[in-house]
Amino acid sequence: MNIRSERVEDIDAIFAIHASSFESDEEALIVDDLRASGELICSLVAERGGVLLGHVAVSKASLVDTDLAVAAIGPIAVVKRCRRQGVGSALMEAAISWLDAHRFGLTVLLGDPTFYQRFGFNPAAPAGLRCPWTTTEAFQMRCLTEACPDMPSGDVRWSTAFNR
Ligand SMILES: CC(C)(COP(=O)(O)OP(=O)(O)OC[C@H]1O[C@@H](n2cnc3c(N)ncnc32)[C@H](O)[C@@H]1OP(=O)(O)O)[C@@H](O)C(=O)NCCC(=O)NCCS
Repeated sequence: MNIRSERVEDIDAIFAIHASSFESDEEALIVDDLRASGELICSLVAERGGVLLGHVAVSKASLVDTDLAVAAIGPIAVVKRCRRQGVGSALMEAAISWLDAHRFGLTVLLGDPTFYQRFGFNPAAPAGLRCPWTTTEAFQMRCLTEACPDMPSGDVRWSTAFNR
């Protein structure tokens, strides 16, 4: 399996991966909107034998009233027949490596902590971060200490593509 950046010819397959993985096309359309608005800063696919198995989106985000470099991971999806084989983990690890290499101080996401905690994510609300949609433990954060010396707090803003 190979993890690489998306190419133009992958765009339809990426849409199909998300549309078939979630209850509606919503996540697939968010990826399209992020790409169209230039806020899809990292878009990685997992590929085997020329077939795409999964995709993860990384988009620009911000922490209100700060100039901290903030990013959001998601959506992420793996085609059903290839789940529980490490594809999602490989995509997450590649996305985190990219974020660390680009010195993003804070990364946020929404999802099941059971999956994301293994990648260094922790509940964000107890740390003082606020998300526009939820106060639950689904809202998670990861800091790169060198790029984020103080524990960040305040309102996180996602790309407007997520307000669909
Ligand atoms: C979530 C998803 C991307 C994980 O991909 P994957 O390739 O199956 O993940 P991995 O094989 O790397 O799994 C790693 C671990 O996470 C666990 N895991 C996988 N999916 C999980 C989920 N939805 N919730 C909780 N834990 C999950 C696996 O059991 C595995 O744990 P183990 O090593 O202890 O057995 C995939 O299940 C998916 O596409 N789901 C539908 C879309 C979705 O829900 N996306 C996430 C939105 S927050």
